[in-house]
Order: sequence, then structure tokens, then C-alpha cells
Amino acid sequence: MSGVIDPSSLSNLNEVATKHIHMNWTIAFDQKKIGGHVLLDIVTLVPNVSKVILDTSYLDLKNVSLNGQDLEYTVAERHLSLGSALTATLPEPIANAGTAFQLKVEYSTTDKCTGVQYLEPEQTVGKKHPYLFSQCQAIHARSMLPCMDSPSNKLTYSASVTSPLPVVMSALLSSTDENADSTKTYHFKQATTIPSYLIAIAAGNLAGREIGPRSTVWCEPEVVEQAAWEFDDTERFIATGESLLTPYEWGRYDLLVLPPSFPYGGMENPCLTFVTPTLLAGDKSAVDVVAHEIAHSWMGNLVTTSNWEHFWLNEGWTVFIERKIAARLHGEAERQFSSIIGWKALKESVELFGQDSPATVLKPDLSSGIDPDDYFSSIPYEKGFNLLYHIEKVVGGPSVFEPYMKAHVERFANKSITTEDWLAHIHEYMEVNHGKETLEKLKTIDFDLWINSPGMPPVDPNFDTSLADACYNLASRWDQARNSDDLSQFSPSDIAEFSSTQKIVFLERLTDCEPLPHNLLEKMDELYKMSPIRNADIRFRWEQICVMASYEKIYPSVIEFITQQGRMKFVRPLYRYLYNAKNGAQLAQDTFLKHKNFYHPIASQLIAKDINLKQ
Ligand code: BES
Ligand code: ZN
Repeated sequence: MSGVIDPSSLSNLNEVATKHIHMNWTIAFDQKKIGGHVLLDIVTLVPNVSKVILDTSYLDLKNVSLNGQDLEYTVAERHLSLGSALTATLPEPIANAGTAFQLKVEYSTTDKCTGVQYLEPEQTVGKKHPYLFSQCQAIHARSMLPCMDSPSNKLTYSASVTSPLPVVMSALLSSTDENADSTKTYHFKQATTIPSYLIAIAAGNLAGREIGPRSTVWCEPEVVEQAAWEFDDTERFIATGESLLTPYEWGRYDLLVLPPSFPYGGMENPCLTFVTPTLLAGDKSAVDVVAHEIAHSWMGNLVTTSNWEHFWLNEGWTVFIERKIAARLHGEAERQFSSIIGWKALKESVELFGQDSPATVLKPDLSSGIDPDDYFSSIPYEKGFNLLYHIEKVVGGPSVFEPYMKAHVERFANKSITTEDWLAHIHEYMEVNHGKETLEKLKTIDFDLWINSPGMPPVDPNFDTSLADACYNLASRWDQARNSDDLSQFSPSDIAEFSSTQKIVFLERLTDCEPLPHNLLEKMDELYKMSPIRNADIRFRWEQICVMASYEKIYPSVIEFITQQGRMKFVRPLYRYLYNAKNGAQLAQDTFLKHKNFYHPIASQLIAKDINLKQ
């Protein structure tokens, strides 16, 4: 075993572990701050521990104490991406391993904290109340609370949060108190051990609507009706996850639809998945994101990566389960189709970083203190998925692999694991349950190549293209029409039978061709009515094709799209394409600077880098 438990944490993980955190917070919307204290229940792992080192990032620290006695502490100079180590010296070294004690840290957040975004009333749907929400994955929990911010350390938590507006957290609500000043105090408990990146909070004008036996959708009252309809399939996804794996652990599975600046599609905060409002497509075409976040209830939230180098264990496994759920509900062709979309996303990520880039390795090296956000891409998702898909084929298909998935969860539930732990277990499992012959099949796979080499996976998956063929054919007809004056072969009926996903795949295919001439884009828009489509995934691909062709007529719509929602999947590439398009560079930079405060701090940092602006 190597000495470093987590290259992305500055805390002394080798000496102590945190077992439970209690947060006592007051939300001050007017000051854009969360203030109060945390109580950390810590246990020593080795003899003679003399200090506790916690991760912090831009926190305003007030005091550290142990049993009412103030401790000496220092805050180290900031590491560029990892934040500032807070070292608290214990009154005397603790002699024995296994000794428990409780640290109290009084502090408040500041306006530099990247894990929490505060929204002005104008940035919400209702425009009357402020709003705040957190996003702690990967290493932003340290900017909300001092903690050992590593997924190798799993803990339970409780919280008492005082706020003038309703509060939700990634936990179960146990009770609410009314205070004299018209605020309320909300008490929460998360009784299953979780890594710090799954601590989450949101507060604002929230309304809830029941959508299933263990599910409520939360959002601003204006969109609650639409959200309840769109996420109607939630219980079916959970039940399918349970039939594939183990009973759902977390009691409730609620959804929170965030304001438009939420930077991700979804975030698997336990008991309460956070999702972007761009999923409200009006046709349930984006609910695969919900299936994905539900799959994290096992892969990631129960079986957790031990640090961000093994992030693929969270996301690759989750994509694999998400697509198993899709196959159970909609058939194998659907799984193959979404795998094709995933492969395209993987190709784009590899092209963007470059095929020799260390960022394209399944298990990247983060030891130099790289910010995990800088390596975020489809690679851990899709290379990870493809590795599992390949193994499934090699060892004998679903009848062998599906029972193994369950055994994987049972073996590692409530633990944090590395790629090596996973590898050892799958080898052992196949030998014990399917004998030497299956073990030999497994051993034909060059795991080292899959796990440690850059670029595309070493094996071509050959997905079944039955749902994609019509999309490919149509795309190639448009591609070839660039040399002819006669566009009469095209008509609205070309796509009349296409699902939303098929429209996406048709457009994706065109992004692989030379930019289309403007008269073709004009014709396509006229016939297929692309520009008015509000489904965000379709709009994204359509606008991408247009911007890549420097079709300037589309620019106003692109600007509207990238300033009305802040989901990085759409916003980052569109900024990049615009920046590289004719008459686009200045427009991209000016637009970003004008709307910078709209974006979540994480998105804002990354977009600025993408379009060559120094923050
Ligand atoms: N856990 C991720 C989001 C994430 C990853 C946030 C790393 C911060 C750091 C979430 O489960 C996710 O993968 N979301 C995807 C959706 C999905 C369907 C691939 C997204 O946001 O696009
Ligand atoms: Zn995920």
C-alpha cells in the first residue's frame, strides 16, 4: 500500500478519522454567509497523535476548542487548488489508538467559498426570495465546513440549521422549531456513513410535491407541477435498482430542482438528488439523469471511491447501472443506443485533452495537487463503463455479471475502495463462483492497459446500431448534400418519427463532419424547426453545429442559452466553440464578463480558463 491515502486532501488521514459531524448553522442571506460551528467526533488511528489537520478553503475561522478548552491552531498558506490546512494542536498527545474526542470549530463562510452559491431574488424563478445551494463534489466541502475532505473518510452527520426560508439537506428531516424572530430551525440526520462530498444543503422558497411512496420533488412553487410530471418514473428507477442490486438504503429519495445556474446535470446527494432545471424538457426525455443519480445510491454513495484518482469507480459503475436500468425498463436496444452516445462523448473528451494527455487515463495521477475539477470529463464515465461492459462480455454475459454486481455492492457497502481493491475482488469472485475457466477468461483482459494508458479504450465495443442507423443515414445525406443545389430530397417527415435521443444522435453525427454550408443550415432549420426546440440537449447540439460553421444568425440564441442556464455540459463547450468561431472570440469573452455573477463559482472558474480569461 502506498503511503498517501488521498492526494487531494491536506488532512492527517493517516492519524485520525472523523466519525460524525454535527453542524450548527445560521443562514444569513443578507450577508451571503453560513455561520456557526461544527462539532467533529474524531478517533485516533495510531498512538501518540498530537494534532488534527483539517481541510479548509476561504473559511473565516474564529475558534477551535476541545471540551471547552481553546486550542492553539494555525492556518497554512493556501495551496492553489487544495485550500488551507488548519492544524489544531492537542493539549497533549493522545497515547492510544482508538481514542475518541470532540473538536469544536467556530467559523463562518466568506464570499470566496466555492462550494456555496447565493442567488439574488432575480436569479430565481419566483424573483421574490434569495436562494442558496451547495455543490461539494469533488473538493468543495472544505469551503463550507472545516473537515477531513476526503472520500476515504466516511461519517454520519446531523445538523441544526436556522433560516428564514425552508431548508433541505442530504439527510432526513427529524424536526423543525419555530423561533421568535420568524426564522425556523431545521434538524437533520444522516445515519448512513457518507464521504464529506455528499454533505449538501439548499435553502429558498421551496415547495414539495409527492411523486412516489418514498419521493418528494422540491423546487420553487412555480415549477412544482411540471417537475412532478417530468419525474414521474422515479419510483420505477429505484425499484429497478433494487432488483439489480440490494434494497435501497437511504429511506427517502427526494429530488431538488435547482435554479438554472446549477452547474451539473445532477448531483447524487443522498436522500436528495440535486438536478438542473434543464431536465424539465416537457417530454421526459432527460430523465436518464435521474436514473443515473439513483444508480449512485449504490455506486458512489454506498461503495465509494477512496480518492479522486479512482473516481471512475463512482461514475463508470454508475453509468453501467444506469444503462442496466434503462435496459430493464426499455429494452437492450436502448442500452446500446445510450452507450453509443456515451462513446461519442468519450471521443470528444479524448480529442479535447489530446490522446496522449494524462487526463485521459482511467486512473489519473493526481499526486501533484491537480484540482479534480480540471480533470472532470466523460473519460471516467465512459471508459469506466466500457471496461465493465467488456468484462461482462468476456466472462459470459449478464447471467454471470449481474449476480457479480450485487456481490460487489454487498462486499464493499459502507466502504471506500481503490481500483486495486475492486480488481482483487472481481478476480476472487470469478474464481470462487465460476471456477478457473472464467478466471482465465478474465485474465485475458489487459487491465493495466485499460487502467493506466491514455486515449481511447483498447477494445472497440461494437454497439448495436439499430436505433442509430436512421440517424446516421440522415446525417450522411445532409453531409453529402453540401455539394448539390437540390435540397428537395429533404422534408419534415425525415425526422417525424425520431425520438428526442435520435434527434440528438443525428445532430451529433453532423458535428463529426466538416462544418455545413449556411444554406444547408438554413434549410434544415426551416424543415425540421430546430431553433424553436427547447429540449436542452437538442438545442445544445443544434447550436454547436451552427457555431462550428460560424453561422452568425444563431449567435443571439446561443448567447441567450448560455446566459439563462449554467449547466457546464452545455455552457462550457458552447463558450469554447463561440470563442473559436468567426466574430465569436470577443463576443464570448464580453458575454462571460457581463454574466459572470450568474454562473456558479465552479463553472465561472472553468469557463474563464476555457476562453483564455485570467480570473
Ligand atoms: N456526481 C456527478 C456530478 C459531479 C461529478 C459533480 C464530479 C462534481 C464532480 C453526477 O452524478 C453526474 O455524473 N452528473 C452528470 C449526469 C449524468 C447523466 C452523466 C452531469 O451532471 O452531467
Ligand atoms: Zn454521476
